[in-house]
Amino acid sequence: MNGRAFSRRAFLAGSVALAPVARALAQARAQAPDPHIEDLLRQMTLEEKAAQLTIFRSPTASAAINPQGPHEPTREEALADAGRGMAAGYFNGFDPAFNRALQQRAVEDSRLRIPLIFAGDVIHGLKTTFPIPLAEAASFDPELCRRTARASAEEASALGLHWTFAPMVDIARDERWGRVMEGAGEDPWLGARIAAARVRGFQGDDLRAENSLLACPKHFAGYGGVEGGMEYNSVEISETALRQVHLPPFEAAFAAGALTTMTGFNDVAGVPSTADRHLLTEILREEWRFPGLVVSDFQSVRELIPHGFAADEEDAVLKAFTAGCDVALSDDIYVRHLPALVRDGRLAEAALDQSVRRMLRLKKASGLFANPYRSLDPGRAAKAARRPEALALARETARKSIVLLKNENNQLPLPKTGKSLAFIGPFVSDKDQTLGNWSLNGMPELAVSLEEGVRAALSSDARCTFTPGCAAESEIPGGIEAAVQAAREADIAVLYLGETGKMSGESAATTSIVIPHCQQALAEAVAATGRPLVVILKHGRALALQGAARDAPAVLCSWFLGSESGRALADIVFGDFAPQGRLPVSFPRAPGQEPFYYDHRPTGRPQIGDVTDFTARYREVANEPLFAFGHGLTFSVLDYGETKLSAPRLSRDGALKISARIVNRGGRAAHEVAQLYIHRRVAAITQPVRQLKGVQHVALAPGETKEVVFELRPSDLAYVQPDLSMRADAGLFDIWIAPSAVGGQKASFSLD
Ligand code: NOJ
Repeated sequence: MNGRAFSRRAFLAGSVALAPVARALAQARAQAPDPHIEDLLRQMTLEEKAAQLTIFRSPTASAAINPQGPHEPTREEALADAGRGMAAGYFNGFDPAFNRALQQRAVEDSRLRIPLIFAGDVIHGLKTTFPIPLAEAASFDPELCRRTARASAEEASALGLHWTFAPMVDIARDERWGRVMEGAGEDPWLGARIAAARVRGFQGDDLRAENSLLACPKHFAGYGGVEGGMEYNSVEISETALRQVHLPPFEAAFAAGALTTMTGFNDVAGVPSTADRHLLTEILREEWRFPGLVVSDFQSVRELIPHGFAADEEDAVLKAFTAGCDVALSDDIYVRHLPALVRDGRLAEAALDQSVRRMLRLKKASGLFANPYRSLDPGRAAKAARRPEALALARETARKSIVLLKNENNQLPLPKTGKSLAFIGPFVSDKDQTLGNWSLNGMPELAVSLEEGVRAALSSDARCTFTPGCAAESEIPGGIEAAVQAAREADIAVLYLGETGKMSGESAATTSIVIPHCQQALAEAVAATGRPLVVILKHGRALALQGAARDAPAVLCSWFLGSESGRALADIVFGDFAPQGRLPVSFPRAPGQEPFYYDHRPTGRPQIGDVTDFTARYREVANEPLFAFGHGLTFSVLDYGETKLSAPRLSRDGALKISARIVNRGGRAAHEVAQLYIHRRVAAITQPVRQLKGVQHVALAPGETKEVVFELRPSDLAYVQPDLSMRADAGLFDIWIAPSAVGGQKASFSLD
């Protein structure tokens, strides 16, 4: 297969199948009055209207997911509210029987019989748990992300949901932030493509279908920029960075048909996003003509008070609502204050109507007026859970998410016979930490541990041992001694080290992105045995590797891989599947380099060669990654030829073809991920040292050469100008086809 064909299919996938969603979006945009909805609006009281702008946490939601809030209904209260038309819907109740009971109350008992909508955080699957979103992004394959989102929608809709609070499309550039694991990494180009693919996957091609899940790209906007990576912290990003880095994945998600978005807990330059008129109205509604619904984050309306942006609840409601936040999540604050604000004349009823109209349109678009019991069939839940094809997809995705960071002396793959293997580390036999954070309804007890995956891959008489050595964050008595003994008795030692699921995700920011101390000590002790070493990392963020974990001849980055974790790891470790993942986040050399990302702007004093004094760097390390964005080895050896251009100049109505030959010089088949990067040399606002502009997947047999061809048009070279417009002005560019954000051969061209 030609690399170009593969890539085009992957990146364009969905645009054809999307037609019905695009039509729904176009209809929503047209804003033609819907007589049925207008009739309902005429009949609704102010209280009923405010209730349509409130989504409560389900009384069946697990307390482990969201902190218990001050105004959350019990089961009885929720049933009574539903019967009085006093809620728009509920979230995180993965219980089709209870959701159905609520729906029955809403459509049989309530005055206007408006159906409820059920939402939830479906972040990387449910009973079938896929790799964490960051891991999946390492596939550099949006089509794969579309497929896992589709499979997640199948299960979620069978568990009684119509709407997911996903994908999280925040660009994250500081690995101290725990929520790095929920997104697609540091790059806006890749992030935008994955965001769109996930939206298409969740929603399918018919929003009214039993298995469709409305998408909710979040958090609008700038949450990934929290200062110092500290959770819920302030954000100080320029309007230029907002538009060039943080907003593109949202635009892509809306263009792909997303009809909802969620605000964040953060402020941007002192204005909390839940009450940011510039974001929620000027950009979202006026510039982008977004027709959908804006929902707050979990009680983020009332959080305007501790933010110091609102004096009290009423002030918070007025500020959030008038800024453009249609719905309050997990809080009755809108119900208690919106009606009075309208009665006092401080809020126009027409504004309330407009938000209610959006909610009712959303319910209509997802088929709930026509069939309120859509996706509420308790009988479907068991049948839809953990279907063989979903588990096969989980394994495929997990394999494609693993990144081979290092492989000196072809240490990997390991032989299946003839050598004894010692698997060492707190996670070798563990199941609880396989799924990673945000694995709501995941079934860790059914997840495949590394030990199970390895044993299944080897014959029963294979010589392998599994020794924890320590717990994730503490020593165990005699642990290191037992691990050293196991390593000594084996031919090869494999260390499985890193983070627990709870060490990344919401509320899991860290000051230091390193392997926990006790595990590092274990690694040093095992390395000191002199046995050939392989390190497998488990993590929800890029780590700053030190000592034995960095210096081992072979290092695999494996994130949290989900239900099929152990099997996918064994597939790679024993060479049944060649690694093809690429880093969607840069691995720094030291934690103190964070925030650290490949597409930084050039400084006036870059470090060139060995000159270190008075250059932009830290004393201890060069301003370089340990492993660059886009990096990932195969089991073979690939050479990139010259980057060739179809012309030295690109005209305004033209297209530039960029090509390079890639040779597989090694003895094994390889799946290469070729990347196109550009750099604009001079600009009105300085532009990054490199920017990703294309990706192609290429399969190469041993000895085979293939040419990859990319195409660029002037619009691909646009950047945010000082007047905030997005334009490509004339200029000189450097360009690379490369295996990562470093390397590749440079060519140059000009845009007329
Ligand atoms: C808070 C998180 O920030 C958000 O992403 C999530 O959707 C809500 N809680 C609901 O669980």
